[in-house]
Amino acid sequence: MKHLIHIAIIGILAYFTGSAAHLQAQTYPFELPKLPYAYSALEPVVDAATMEIHYSKHHAAYVKNLNAALKGSKDERYTLDELMLYAGEFEEVIKNNAGGHYNHSLFWNILGLNSPFSAQSEVGKAVIATFGSVDSLNKLLYKAGSTRFGSGWAWLYVTPEKKLAVCSSPNQDNPIMDVSPNRGVPVLGIDVWEHAYYLKYQNKRTDYLTAILTAVNWEAVNKNYTEALVSPLLKTIEKETWTELSNFHEVMAGTFHPSEEGDLKPIRERSGEFLEKAKALQAGKIPASFNTPEIRKSIDDLVKGAGELNQMVAKKASDKALAKKLTELHDVFHTIQGLCRH
Ligand SMILES: [Fe+2]
Repeated sequence: MKHLIHIAIIGILAYFTGSAAHLQAQTYPFELPKLPYAYSALEPVVDAATMEIHYSKHHAAYVKNLNAALKGSKDERYTLDELMLYAGEFEEVIKNNAGGHYNHSLFWNILGLNSPFSAQSEVGKAVIATFGSVDSLNKLLYKAGSTRFGSGWAWLYVTPEKKLAVCSSPNQDNPIMDVSPNRGVPVLGIDVWEHAYYLKYQNKRTDYLTAILTAVNWEAVNKNYTEALVSPLLKTIEKETWTELSNFHEVMAGTFHPSEEGDLKPIRERSGEFLEKAKALQAGKIPASFNTPEIRKSIDDLVKGAGELNQMVAKKASDKALAKKLTELHDVFHTIQGLCRH
C-alpha cells in the first residue's frame, strides 16, 4: 500500500461513542448492526416489506460478502474507514461490499418520522447558511438522486474545508472513498437503488425521493454533522486531497526507498524534479488543519534541503553522502505527512 495513514485514527475514533464513528472503527469480522426501529416504523413512506428485505437480505448480504472477501487475507486488519479511504486499492468486491455495509448503516440511522428539521440545531444553522433553506437543500438532494443514472446514492456531506455540500455517487461508492471525485464525510445519504423503493413505488424514483426526504431524522443528521466536523477521518481526507503533498510524496517514495536499498540512481535522475515538487508544495495552499508553524517550517526546510541535494547531485557527490541527505529530508517530510503504513 503506497498510502499513508495516521495510526492515531483508530485511537482517536475510539474516543467517540456515536454509532457512525463506532462503525467506522470496526474491523473484520463485520456485523450487521441492529435496525434502530421496527420494519413498519417508517410507513407509509417506506413499507414494512421493503424495509425487511432491504435490511435483512440486501444489507445482510453486503456484510456477509465483505467478510467472505476478507477472510484469511492480509486485508482482514483494516478498519471500515480504511477500506473506504483506500477503496481504489482493494479488490472491487471489497470496495462494493464495504461501501454497501457503511452506506446502509448510515441510511437506517438517518431515517425517522419524529425528528423534523430544526433551524436552531448545528446542522440546521449550517444548512441555512449554505443552501438558504432546508427546502433548497432537499431540491438539491432530489436532483442528485433523480439524475443519478442506474444505482447509487445522494449525499449531504462535510467537505475537508468543513462546508456542507451535496453530490451523488454510483453503486455503493461514497465521498469517503478515494475513487470519489467529491470527498468528505457523509452526514445524510439517500439510497436510490431500485431495491430501496421498487415494491411500493415501482419505477417512480422521484415519488420515492419526495417521500423519503420527509422521513429524515434530523437529530441523527445533526449528530453525524457535529461528529464529522471533528472527525480524524475528515483530516485524513484533507491530507489525501492535498495535491502538492501527494505529488511530492510520489517523488520522495520513488527516490528514498531505492536509496535505502543502496540504489541512488533514481535520486540522481530526479533531484531536479524533487526540488521542483518541494517548491510547489511551498507555493501551494496548505489545508487549514495542516497550516501550523511546525509544518510551514518543515516545508521550508524541505525546499532548502532539496536545493542542497540538487547541488550535490550536480557535483557528483558520493552515494553515501546523497543517501544521508535524502534520509534527513525523508525525516523532515514525515513531520508533515505523518506515520507511514506500507
Ligand atoms: Fe440499499
